[in-house]
Amino acid sequence: MEVDAAGNLFGHVPVSDTGTRRIWTGSHLDTVPQGGKFDGALGVVAAIEAVERAGRGSVAVFRGEEVGCVGSRARVERGGLPDAFLEVHIEQGPRLADAQAPLGIVTGIVGVARGDLVVEGRAGHAGTTPMDVRDDALVKAAELILRIRETASSIEGAVATVGRLTVEPGFANVIPSRVVIAVDARAPDRDRCQRLIETLGLEPSYRTAPAQMDAGLRDVLRAEIETRGLPVVELASGAGHDAAVLAAAGVPSAMLFVRSLNGGVSHSPEELSSEEDVELAVDVLAGVLARL
Ligand code: HGY
Ligand code: MN
Ligand code: MN
Repeated sequence: MEVDAAGNLFGHVPVSDTGTRRIWTGSHLDTVPQGGKFDGALGVVAAIEAVERAGRGSVAVFRGEEVGCVGSRARVERGGLPDAFLEVHIEQGPRLADAQAPLGIVTGIVGVARGDLVVEGRAGHAGTTPMDVRDDALVKAAELILRIRETASSIEGAVATVGRLTVEPGFANVIPSRVVIAVDARAPDRDRCQRLIETLGLEPSYRTAPAQMDAGLRDVLRAEIETRGLPVVELASGAGHDAAVLAAAGVPSAMLFVRSLNGGVSHSPEELSSEEDVELAVDVLAGVLARL
């Protein structure tokens, strides 16, 4: 067992031949407030089971994926990276269910940028300040949030979300003087990411580049899926993942999605995959580990 300075955990199957390729497989253990049981944890459990079955590989458990992939980014900065990385993850969307496919091969991972936009106004008394002289930061923030939505909708494949507002001073009878808008902006490629960020006027506090998954590893995943007589579905990921961080650092990486049930809901207690589909994913992952 290895625990690195960032708190990432690794379980390595000892190798006799130093020439053996170092293959990591795993995901993250953290999740979001009121999240589900599968996002991240599924990939960790699948990795443990598959490494045990294949008798080779290393289980990688990253910290802080939901707060900017801090664990995998710290590991990339520290060095000591594998020859390849595989991540099993719940799809977190409806596409595999729509395609009636239990598993999917990820083609690429979206670029993610997060940052705050600040709107200033002027505090005032809720009862004595006439409507026509107010400088209400929250009203201006509401107008900006609608513009954020329009901007993302105008760029093919881009999305933007405001998940948190901080209103100051935050008292019911005080006109808001300042609002901090937490923005999460994403797009499938660098150009559209850059256009979205610039149009929003966002100075990201955190950013991951869009990442392509390794073609060779995708071929191995496809072969393992086909030998089991399962449909092959290839799809892009609108969620960010540690695999994007490792891929951006030059580690050939691939992801295997497991069908989401309940309409694909995620970052919610209703997030769900079936035991049958999880077993198929573990079996395919063990097959890939045995081949590599
Ligand atoms: O936000 C994401 O895409 C991931 O769940 N961290
Ligand atoms: Mn998540
Ligand atoms: Mn995740």
